[in-house]
Amino acid sequence: MPEGRSFYITTPIFYPSDVPHIGHGYTEVAADVLARWHRQAGDDTWLLTGTDEHGQKMLRTATANDMGPREWADRLVRESWLPLLETLDIANDDFIRTTQERHERGVAAFVQRLFDTGFIEAGDYEGYYCVGCEEYKQTSELVSGTGRFEGQLVCAIHSIPVELLQERNYFFRMSEFQDRLLALYEERPDFVQPESARNEVMQFVRSGLSDLSISRSTFDWGVKVPWDERHIVYVWFDALLNYVTAIGYDGDEATFARRWPAVHLVGKDILRFHAVIWPAMLLAAGLDVPKQVFAHGWLLVGGEKMSKSKLTGIAPTQITDTFGSDAFRYYFLRAIPFGQDGSFSWEDLAARYQAELANGFGNLASRVLAMVGRYRDGVVPAATEAGESDLRIREVVRASAIEADLAIERMAPHDAVAAIWRIVDDLNLYLTQEEPWALAKRPEAAGRLDAVLATAAEGLRALAVLLSPVIPKACAKLWAALGAEPALGPLLQQPIRAAGDWGQLPAGTRVGTLEPLFPRIEQEALSA
Ligand code: ME8
Ligand code: MG
Repeated sequence: MPEGRSFYITTPIFYPSDVPHIGHGYTEVAADVLARWHRQAGDDTWLLTGTDEHGQKMLRTATANDMGPREWADRLVRESWLPLLETLDIANDDFIRTTQERHERGVAAFVQRLFDTGFIEAGDYEGYYCVGCEEYKQTSELVSGTGRFEGQLVCAIHSIPVELLQERNYFFRMSEFQDRLLALYEERPDFVQPESARNEVMQFVRSGLSDLSISRSTFDWGVKVPWDERHIVYVWFDALLNYVTAIGYDGDEATFARRWPAVHLVGKDILRFHAVIWPAMLLAAGLDVPKQVFAHGWLLVGGEKMSKSKLTGIAPTQITDTFGSDAFRYYFLRAIPFGQDGSFSWEDLAARYQAELANGFGNLASRVLAMVGRYRDGVVPAATEAGESDLRIREVVRASAIEADLAIERMAPHDAVAAIWRIVDDLNLYLTQEEPWALAKRPEAAGRLDAVLATAAEGLRALAVLLSPVIPKACAKLWAALGAEPALGPLLQQPIRAAGDWGQLPAGTRVGTLEPLFPRIEQEALSA
């Protein structure tokens, strides 16, 4: 395959202060679906994820658990964050931890560069700090505490008291970048998406930018400031740099040039860090800004953001143990328009599993393979008598494949899945109308039956290719059962932008049997 254009996509690096919940799983899955799509399209794809291990939140959580921060992070990464990737079938290319040498070295080199060029200087600061956010807050972002925090100022996001900090430390001269950032948002409307996120960011930057305190001296869990080792680098300044240190910012120029710039997928909670601070840092260092920052919405519980600190997190395994990883992946991408908030509900998940995955797609695949087995001894026939209805299926496959690819391009995976699902629905309708089981009873209709079975099998071929980024396990089983590999090669090497071209599964292909792709879920499992 010729080397395609670069597609480098990242997730936020998560705090391993605690275990992951389905909100983190959602980001991972979305990034993975986009990456798998691009990889299968032949783009030079790289998916990065990882963990953000420095800072006060990590230090305090570890201390509260009688452990050192490094030990605590090691344990959580090993026991929870790496297993999350297995649980959700994430095909990441790299996993960065901010405690790795490659990262710490890159952070030191980057801040030194900004110090040497005058973008970092010493100064004084006093303000309210939220350890939950790891951020200084404006008074407008604070509210009065209730319950045990009565009489104190608390962070509006975390509902925990903020701390008044006074520091003499180093500042990044971010205020100088206001005009250049505004010009960037104007000239490249795609830079921050969706539109609601872009508007929020533009309004924020128009209201003025302050310089940013980028070092701390009251605790020492972080990367040392190279010219003043009493200070460590502010955790966000450190963390954002993972996106470049992971691809060789300090030491591997060829890889860096090949991959950068990236598409950053983030939750809207951390939009400003990525759409304001991060591009300002890159501009100061003379590096390209990201290709795009896309902020997806929140999974809500009772109308509020699902969160660790509010104990509303649902573990991803609670869903995958019953429904499987494919169902998790499908559900969140299908049910929530990407970029908007969504409420998770067990009822909705169970209903879509049954109607769309089991009855819609799974049943279609089993029926077609069973009929090829029963009526044609397991050999896909030649479609000699193709008619009007067969041509309509071809056209749907062609148009859906194009539409899905365009939807992925505009970061709308929910639209991509919906477009592909038209093939599922139309094939099911086609079988109902063509009644192959009735054709099989009439010897004079043998040619017509051949055409129907060939059309349905070729439709499944297209579906396996188009859906494999979303539901890879089911599609791998279907590919094997279709017997497609001898003629067409491995599923993951099928060029996805050609998936809608008709007539790829040859007549004479020998199909196998298929266990139910989405088995019935017993009621007890649902109520457990
Ligand atoms: O902010 N709905 O890490 P974090 C959807 N370390 N997504 C959610 C979510 C929800 N309810 N809750 C969390 C940090 N997420 C920093 C990032 S990046 C250089 C540093 C997802 O562990 C979403 O992607 O608090 C959100 O942006 C991220 O987890 C925050 O993870
Ligand atoms: Mg958070």
